[in-house]
Formats: sequence, C-alpha cells, structure tokens
Amino acid sequence: MKNAKRIVCLVLSVLLLSSLFSAPAAADTAETGNSPVRVSACVAGDNGRTVGFCWYTAEKADSVVTLRDESGTAIAGATLSDPVCEAWEGLWMHKVTASNLPAETLVTYTVGDGANTVTGTVKTGGAADSVKFIEIADVQASSAENFEKGAATLRAAFEALPDAAFVANCGDFTNDSTNEEWDLYDASFGELNRGYLLAPVSGNHDGFGVANWFNNMFNLDTSESVQTKNGVNYSFDYGNAHFAVLNTNDCLNVSRPQLKWLKNDMNSTDKDWKIVFIHKSPYTLGKDGKWPDALQLQKTLTKVCDETNVDLVIGGHDHQYLRTKPLTHNRLDENGVTYLLSGTAGSKRYEVREFLAGHFMKKQFIDALVVQKGGYGNYWNGTDWKSTDENNIGGCYNTVEITGGKLTLNAYILGDESHQSKKIDTLTLTKNTGENKITFTGDNTTSKAAYTAGSILSYASLLFYTLTNWLPRFLALVPELIYSVAVYDTF
Ligand SMILES: [Fe+2]
Ligand SMILES: [Fe+2]
Repeated sequence: MKNAKRIVCLVLSVLLLSSLFSAPAAADTAETGNSPVRVSACVAGDNGRTVGFCWYTAEKADSVVTLRDESGTAIAGATLSDPVCEAWEGLWMHKVTASNLPAETLVTYTVGDGANTVTGTVKTGGAADSVKFIEIADVQASSAENFEKGAATLRAAFEALPDAAFVANCGDFTNDSTNEEWDLYDASFGELNRGYLLAPVSGNHDGFGVANWFNNMFNLDTSESVQTKNGVNYSFDYGNAHFAVLNTNDCLNVSRPQLKWLKNDMNSTDKDWKIVFIHKSPYTLGKDGKWPDALQLQKTLTKVCDETNVDLVIGGHDHQYLRTKPLTHNRLDENGVTYLLSGTAGSKRYEVREFLAGHFMKKQFIDALVVQKGGYGNYWNGTDWKSTDENNIGGCYNTVEITGGKLTLNAYILGDESHQSKKIDTLTLTKNTGENKITFTGDNTTSKAAYTAGSILSYASLLFYTLTNWLPRFLALVPELIYSVAVYDTF
C-alpha cells in the first residue's frame, strides 16, 4: 500500500514537473510559429531594383511584403509577384519578388504574414558606371561557434567596404545542409543578412545529393536555370558589370547546357565588366585540387570565358586563397582571364599541396597564394612554399570596387587571435570601356529534353577527360603524394 502511494505521488510529481517545463515551450511555439526566420533578399537584376525575398515560418502563414523608402513612405511604383508558400522539410517556405524598386534608395522591407513581421533594408543602385561588392566563401560550419566566426569575417568585410552594393557568397553555406545547420547559420548571419542584397552560389555542401535545398533557401531568378535540383545558375547586372552565377553541382561541375547558357548570357550583355561567380575553382593547390571534377573546368569553363571576354572568375571550394595571373586557356596571357580562389571565410582551412604544382597547374600561373592556417606552407612568396606568417590564421574576405575601366580587388584575413583585418593581396585590372558588344539576343532557356541529352554528354565528357587526361597525370604524382602523406600528413 505504502509503495502504491509512493508510485502515485511520483507519477503526479512527474506530470506536474513536465507540465511546468512544457508550458513555456508551448508558448515559444505559439510565439514563433508565424515569425519569419532565415530571411534573405537576393539580387535579381536591374541594379538591385529587383529583389527576391525568401523567409521561413514554422506554421503555414500568409506571405506579405511591405516596402518603404527613407522617409517611411510606402513605395507605390514597385511590383510584387504572386507569393509562393510551400512546405519544405517540416517548415513553410515563402517567396515574393519585388521589382521596379526606385533607384538609389534605401528600401526598408518587412516580410511576414502582416502581423508577425521581420524588417530589413536593401540599397538599390542607379545608373552609375560603378559597383562595389563583397565576396566570401566556404563558411561551411556545423557549430554555432564556427558560424559565428564566419559572421565575424563578414562583419569585418563591411567595415572595410561599408557601402557594398551586394555580397556574393561563393557557396558551402553549411556543412550538411540540415534544418539545424541552416538555423545556426541564421542565428549568426540573420541580422547581417537583413542589411544587404545577397548573390548566393550553390556549393557542393549546399544540398548536393538532397534535391532542392539550395533553391528553396533563396528566392533567385531561375528563369534561365538549366535545372534547379542541386543548385541554380542565374545572372544579373549591377553598375557597369554583368555577373553570371554558376552551379558546379550540375553533372559534377558545370554541364554542357550550362556552359552554353553562360556563353549566350555573356554574349547578351554590353556591360564593360564580365564577372563569373562559381563554387568549384579550376585552379587550386588545396586538397580538392587533385580531383577531376573541378580540374575539368580548366578545359571547359576557361574556353567559354576566353571566348566571351570574361574578366574575372571568383570561386571557392578549396579553403585557401589563390589568384592566378591572367590566363587564356591554360596559358599566360596578359589579356586573359584572372581566376581567384577565395579563401574560406570560416574556420576549416586547407594547407597547400606542393605536389600538385606542375601536375595540374603550372607554378608560373600563381600570382598570389595564402594558406590560412599555421605550419606548413603559409604562403607562396614566389620561390618558397614554406614561408609562414602567423597573421594569416583567420577568415578571408574580398572587396571589389569597379569604377569605369578600373577594377580593384582587395583580399583580407581577419585574424583569429588579433581580431584585426590584414590585407593579403591586391589586384588591379584596367580596360577600355564601351568595347563589349551584344552578339546574342535569342532565347537562352534550356528545354528538358536538351538538358537530358546535354547532361548525358557532360558525364561522358567527364569520364573521357578523367581517363585520358586526368588519370595519367594523377598516376605520375602518386610517389610525391605518398611522400607528402609520410612527411607532412597531407593528402
Ligand atoms: Fe567548402
Ligand atoms: Fe565545396
């Protein structure tokens, strides 16, 4: 009897305690159910005057966007697209596109259901022949601590270039593209994200193998994307520059249909500057610099960039900073294309693989190389791989300023210990303006049938490249690779 009483007391106590603990949780859910999270405003063209808003709610809700100018007056002339609200991975995704925003205006927007809202700002551009932007890549974090380090890098970038028109993020936002990681990303980057236009690039960690993650995280102009299952290719104008964003998850790098799209896209602009954002970089000495997926881009992507007068290709993926001299189809050429591998903005950093030089890329191509971690091979000083500089240990960001015929890129590292930014590289490009001509005015969309046929050819061409070009060179480097593993423990 005594035991029975004890059991009843115990059960009642547990029920009471659980109700005490569950009550606030229920209130939290009620509070946050319709509150927007993961808010982003993506650049969709026309000098930032077309913006794709995307946000998430825990519960199904209306998708309402309001727009106000600096004086607080509602922007009357803007057009809002029909809202999209769809279930995704247990949450509700909302997308609305605003177009015809007024030029050179600080636009304050709210997103939400009208009652539960989040506010942010974007600055639209005008007709100026100039543009400034920030580029980061490979935050690729899983923990709150590492997302916070990535966000600190971006905050430092805004200190260096406060009036940037947009931020290009060259991919690998998260490590595993899970709800938990995107929420951690939002917790660290959310406030920042609500203050600028974003041009996101799909990385291999952003949902490769799990369809639709990337396209569902952002509201992008997919009207000319060759497919949207594992990333998005799109383009936009800002100032006197045209930007194309590629998806390197497409047939393991950039599919033939996407290369055709890029060629047409770059031929359909007369902007002075042509810049490509990509994830997998063709020129690298990091750990991924020995695999055929990215290396094939040295054969395929470079051809299109050469033919269409692209000035600069900025990518990520290999978590070290490497800038090439101007190249035309794997040859030094002062009128060629500059390829920049952006260092990682996060905390996962790769050493240089010296054994790769000469096999997959000539040393003479390198104009700047900085490894962001201590120990072996901190930077390339022109003759020596083993120079070290403790100040290099930190997250990397790039600022780009274009005015007329001059482009200036500055690369920085935010020191882990010093919390100070250190400039690690400067690139200046000059050109005559007004020389690019529009040579393509047709339809640049890809039919499903054309994509299917093109993707089969893409895989076949990657296989052919791997067997005939990559494999002989890889086999030749195996002895050096074994030496590197034995001596430096780097593969
Ligand atoms: Fe990465
Ligand atoms: Fe990557």
